[in-house]
Amino acid sequence: MTTGLFITFEGGDGSGKSTQLSLLVDWLEREGHSVLTTREPGGTELGDELREIVLHSKGHITPKSEALIYAADRAHHVATKVRPAIERGDIVVQDRYLDSSVAYQGVGRELGADEIRRISLWATDDLLPDLTVLLDLEESLGRERLDTSRTRFDRLEAEERDFHARVRSAYLALAEAEPIRFLVLDATRSVDSLAEEIRSRVSSLLS
Ligand code: TYD
Repeated sequence: MTTGLFITFEGGDGSGKSTQLSLLVDWLEREGHSVLTTREPGGTELGDELREIVLHSKGHITPKSEALIYAADRAHHVATKVRPAIERGDIVVQDRYLDSSVAYQGVGRELGADEIRRISLWATDDLLPDLTVLLDLEESLGRERLDTSRTRFDRLEAEERDFHARVRSAYLALAEAEPIRFLVLDATRSVDSLAEEIRSRVSSLLS
């Protein structure tokens, strides 16, 4: 059976993930690879509905309920899109995955990192990425970047500074615990130099 590759991008809000993700996808496609570009929350029809609820619901959503909505989105997304693509031999490049849940719900919302990781692994039948690119950025810098480019914040972006500081340290702790899976990059570096380092790591996985 052929298997593809599963690459995820993680980082705080405003870390430049989306820019780096699309540069990587452009390069992979130019190299002739079949790529599925996707994201969480979202990525499927059900996912888009869940995304709207979890990010923009006007009413209160309890932390556990929030965690389970992300997990429901992930379960459906992996089963219907991500795993089939990997099994076809595609390269899946995804904006956010289970590390987001561990960082935002597990640590940001203080639900417990281990608990949230277990829920995500149950939801996905234990699918872990081959590579996770973490764009690390001090939370106040991320906020400044958002301030200049956005007019409205989603429910998570609207959280206070302490929340985002917890998210950032949670990501760094995750990367330290799994140094082979994670590539941690300083998001203040230039777009080109970040893109080059990401390409070089992905190349080594492809050879
Ligand atoms: P999105 O608009 O995709 O933001 P970004 O461009 O920063 O990726 O919004 C996703 C938001 O959802 C983001 O604030 C992080 C949050 N999130 C979680 O809290 N838990 C999760 O499991 C996922 C996937 C995202």
